[in-house]
Amino acid sequence: VVDVQALYRDTGMFTYDPGFNSTASCRSSITYIDGEQGILLYRGYPIEQLAEQCNFLEVCYLILNGELPNEKELAEFQYNVTMHTMVHDQLTNFFKGFRRDAHPMAIMVGVVGALSAFYHDALDIRSKSDREISAIRLIAKVPTIVAMCHKYSTGMPFMYPQNKLSYVENFLRMMHATPCDDYVANPVLVRALDRILVLHADHEQNASTSTVRLAGSSGANPFACVTAGIACLWGAAHGGANEAVLNMLEKIGDVSRIPEYVKKAKDKNDPFRLMGFGHRVYKNYDPRAKLMRQTCHEVLNELGLQNNKLFELAMELERIALEDDYFIEKKLYPNVDFYSGIVLHALGIPTNMFTAMFAMGRTVGWIAHWDEMIADPEQKIGRPRQLYTGAMRRDVPANHRKS
Ligand code: ACO
Repeated sequence: VVDVQALYRDTGMFTYDPGFNSTASCRSSITYIDGEQGILLYRGYPIEQLAEQCNFLEVCYLILNGELPNEKELAEFQYNVTMHTMVHDQLTNFFKGFRRDAHPMAIMVGVVGALSAFYHDALDIRSKSDREISAIRLIAKVPTIVAMCHKYSTGMPFMYPQNKLSYVENFLRMMHATPCDDYVANPVLVRALDRILVLHADHEQNASTSTVRLAGSSGANPFACVTAGIACLWGAAHGGANEAVLNMLEKIGDVSRIPEYVKKAKDKNDPFRLMGFGHRVYKNYDPRAKLMRQTCHEVLNELGLQNNKLFELAMELERIALEDDYFIEKKLYPNVDFYSGIVLHALGIPTNMFTAMFAMGRTVGWIAHWDEMIADPEQKIGRPRQLYTGAMRRDVPANHRKS
């Protein structure tokens, strides 16, 4: 038995907080969440207003710089992002090392990580302008890499970015066009995807953002730090939930089977959880889920898919769960991932690409937090402590191999 008190006697205050339920790891002025009220603000602006009135690149500028851009600032920012959408031709070789059926998030970890090899020597993280150009490069190149992951997995040639297109139009074209057929995006779908990116842009100290900060606290290359965030995002308890929601809805298959799955989710002996439900911070409706549900309606109407089976299933599942005592008592509401998969599906994005889409939206949040941390004079290397539960000092027996 470890004498914990003796062990930590001389260390001053010591808290044991698994999962950081009540420990702030930093100060930040980027995003505010009131989980009880279901409020989300980026730099003070409500997510509902940003989703309605701003496009994704405006929101990126806001998150990075603290203020919304005026027309001139936005045009300059857009120009800078557009000028960096190409990836070095040698980067395409990295794709060829992967099996065609590799999960896109595995490829993302490898290829975004490889950007650190292309932008390392010239980078001084103490220089604000070097940090700014890293942010622009990441926001510009991640969509190109996401689209390349998709093309690689389907055995199709990569489509190069086109400077005349908007951020989202360009991405959809790189995903859907082929050398034989160009792709002209429907403006309603472009707006829907833009809004998805806005809703995913930042969410304070979630697991992947905290991972980026922890990796960056040692002074590591920002492209490598963002890659650490991508790896963390992949898990089903975090960004992987959007893929898991769609798989779950397809498995449920019919509204008549919803009660069976709700029962499974409540069974403590069954590891199954309702994917897209619950959140560490929101104990009320996730405001992003409300906006996502509205976007779902808009996209399905535009495509003439009003009777979409997955959407009907999702809405019925939400209705049943929200009337169930278990979900009421534990304050489990739909989160952002619950409806995002249905919209992405309608946009022609394959299910295994959903988490990579999340990464595309969240890249700005990751890099903004990294930048805020590096610029903070109080910044220190992140070094959590532990509550040791192992054996105390003992000697290796002389004949230990014989025992
Ligand atoms: N279905 C059924 N029960 C649930 C669910 C769910 N989706 N979520 C939480 N619970 C239950 C837990 O079993 C636990 O019950 P207990 O108190 O009896 O032990 C209680 O609610 C609290 O859950 P925790 O796991 O302790 O809460 P935590 O804050 O650690 O986890 C999380 C939050 C990971 C999001 C969790 O709700 C979950 O696994 N949800 C499903 C996955 C998901 O949708 N993830 C996306 C999150 S949002 C995002 O990353 C963008």
